[in-house]
Amino acid sequence: MSTDDRIKNKGYPTFLTQKIDDYNDRIMTDGQGHHLMRGRAASKDDVHICSNDYLSLANHPQVIDEQISILNQQSEYMLMSAVFLDDQNPQILLENQFAEFFGSKDGILCQSGYAANVGLIQTVVENTNAPVFIDLYAHMSLWDGIKMADQTPIPFRHNDVEHLRQLIMRHGPGLVVVDSVYSTNGSVCPLRELVPMAHGMGCTLLVDESHSLGTHGPQGRGMVVEYGFEDMVMFRTASLAKAFAGRAGLILCPEGFADYFKCTSKPSIFSSTMLPYEVVGLQKTLELIKDADDRRAQLRQNTRFLQNHISDLGYSIDDSQAQIIALESGPEWDTIRLRDALESRGIFGSVFCAPATAKTRSLIRLSINSGLTEMQLHRVVRACREIVTELDVPNWKSTKRKARAQAAGVRKIA
Ligand SMILES: Cc1ncc(COP(=O)(O)O)c(C=O)c1O
Repeated sequence: MSTDDRIKNKGYPTFLTQKIDDYNDRIMTDGQGHHLMRGRAASKDDVHICSNDYLSLANHPQVIDEQISILNQQSEYMLMSAVFLDDQNPQILLENQFAEFFGSKDGILCQSGYAANVGLIQTVVENTNAPVFIDLYAHMSLWDGIKMADQTPIPFRHNDVEHLRQLIMRHGPGLVVVDSVYSTNGSVCPLRELVPMAHGMGCTLLVDESHSLGTHGPQGRGMVVEYGFEDMVMFRTASLAKAFAGRAGLILCPEGFADYFKCTSKPSIFSSTMLPYEVVGLQKTLELIKDADDRRAQLRQNTRFLQNHISDLGYSIDDSQAQIIALESGPEWDTIRLRDALESRGIFGSVFCAPATAKTRSLIRLSINSGLTEMQLHRVVRACREIVTELDVPNWKSTKRKARAQAAGVRKIA
């Protein structure tokens, strides 16, 4: 049955038929029924580097025990918005523990990192005339927060502190939005220069630490703490579905902000809050994260190993300065070939394409974790080596960009 017939048979209205047609043309057009985002199913012997469980804490027996115990104990619990949580609710107590550990005055737990970012930006700049500056590579949830606030973003070039400074000069101080580690390619925000500059010019800072909480800084307290910028960065957010291996989002904020947020942010008011077993799971994980220096050291070692070896093979991965490596094959269907070539060798990363990347810069993202064995690491490198010729890696646009940059002696961003 053709795509057209399939859609007609569903009885969609004309305006939706066109949209689904366009989607199918893009996602399933290699003519062989292959899906752009999903390849073959992985087996347990394969190397899984698609999950953001950086410290390999998902399924930790102590977390599971806590969760089972609360599920067995609690005969009933409330399904309701965070607006109604009282001060003694375990979720509020955990928010205080998070705030204290991360050196913040207040903390808010949300249903996801997406809900945290969208709700936060909405509550901070909605109905104001504050300009909102955002790094071009910032996570989609931050852009959507700006939309939700009905504001127009003022984007600055990725990691370009001077460009940001010029834009602040032109538009005046406002909200500056960045990620600490960028989720597409593992590049790291130059916080050391950016934060004092933007703060000094009167801006309010929001740093999304999804990919650095738990993995960076003393005991995993993140990059803002590592640089001692707690007082200059007013808002920190994070998805707790990365190193914290849970299903939640976190906002670290000034004292008193939490109540304002819970009663004015739309994702907080109009969507139910977390469940008790999720709260106890995160509480246990927080304890584990504090004591996870060995896992953090192993993560760094695994990251360095893969960065060095994959870079030596000629791939352009210079942007990767943390536990994310992007193999940027470019056009979407080249990325499918890359995915299939890796998967046939037992290596499972994630396809990143529009809207997560520009259409011509799609990639396979490898998310490194502390639990990878030496054998698995070598297997990844071997697979990357085997496909260099098969997939014509030297002729990828990203490879050529790297060669041009090296020839021009361009300095890497520290
Ligand atoms: C930087 C960043 N912020 C926010 C999010 C959203 O987090 P969640 O998956 O918890 O909604 C993600 C997840 O993809 C992310 O990478």
